[in-house]
Amino acid sequence: MPPYVPRVAIITGAAQGIGLSIARQLAKDGIDVAVNDIPAKSAQIDEVVNAIKETGRKAIAIPADVTSEEEVQKMVETTARELGSVDIVLFLFHSTFVSFKCTFQATAEIFDAVTAVNFKGVFLCYQHAAKQMIKEGHGGRIIVNSVMAKSIGFPNLSVYSGTKFAVRGITQVAAKELGEHGITVNAYAPGIILTPLSIGGGTLDEKLKLFKEAIGIPSYIPHAEPEVIGNLVSFLCKPESHFITGRIMFETCIEDSLK
Ligand SMILES: NC(=O)c1ccc[n+]([C@@H]2O[C@H](COP(=O)([O-])OP(=O)(O)OC[C@H]3O[C@@H](n4cnc5c(N)ncnc54)[C@H](O)[C@@H]3O)[C@@H](O)[C@H]2O)c1
Repeated sequence: MPPYVPRVAIITGAAQGIGLSIARQLAKDGIDVAVNDIPAKSAQIDEVVNAIKETGRKAIAIPADVTSEEEVQKMVETTARELGSVDIVLFLFHSTFVSFKCTFQATAEIFDAVTAVNFKGVFLCYQHAAKQMIKEGHGGRIIVNSVMAKSIGFPNLSVYSGTKFAVRGITQVAAKELGEHGITVNAYAPGIILTPLSIGGGTLDEKLKLFKEAIGIPSYIPHAEPEVIGNLVSFLCKPESHFITGRIMFETCIEDSLK
């Protein structure tokens, strides 16, 4: 039997940055998209939806907070009902700036806020996406955005890094558990991508310098535009990538030199 052709994606945190770039790429690939981000970004979500519709693909707006189980469940159900199925789920959200603290400055409130988004949110999305895909019975693709901080401890990213190590763990477990249902689970861990997250204020050179200094990354480590991630995700969503699972893409030898 030829591999199933994924045709509907939910992308969380897609109002801007890497998520937005992936939404554009998947729409170009012929995939319909449910665009999620927090309700405060409803206007930006609508812009993304309209831009996708202009390309001829279907798109729906799903403002929701991924830390709420009820909202995640509703997001998955609405997508299945309005777009016909749930074939691909991509997670891209973060709360880096609140976590830009060293271990001894991070408060319990920061810990709760960052783990709620970066770990609980991923867990809830994995669980409800998997349940829906198993119910539909045709397999699927679960992809999570990771970071170099998933396996290297960077100064000042204490709690953030902890959540990314945790996500690495549940990604490996989910890949093993969901394989029998034809669902692949992968992560990709880009270096520095030029988005509102990695570049706060000032000129581009100033922003990059500050960001790299803050987390102790040497200036020679390269950075890239969000489109490079769109390309990788596009590859993982192709029917012929059905055998790739449990991988963390973009793990490079550069990371070894940072350990
Ligand atoms: N930019 C980089 O250099 C870089 C590098 C490696 C990994 N990453 C990872 O990529 C992912 C996305 O990064 P980005 O640079 O595009 O960030 P970004 O800040 O540009 O976009 C993240 C989006 O997530 C949304 N979000 C936050 N909390 C949410 C919630 N509770 N529910 C739904 N949406 C929520 C935000 O509103 C935002 O629009 C993150 O997981 C980040 O850790 C980024």
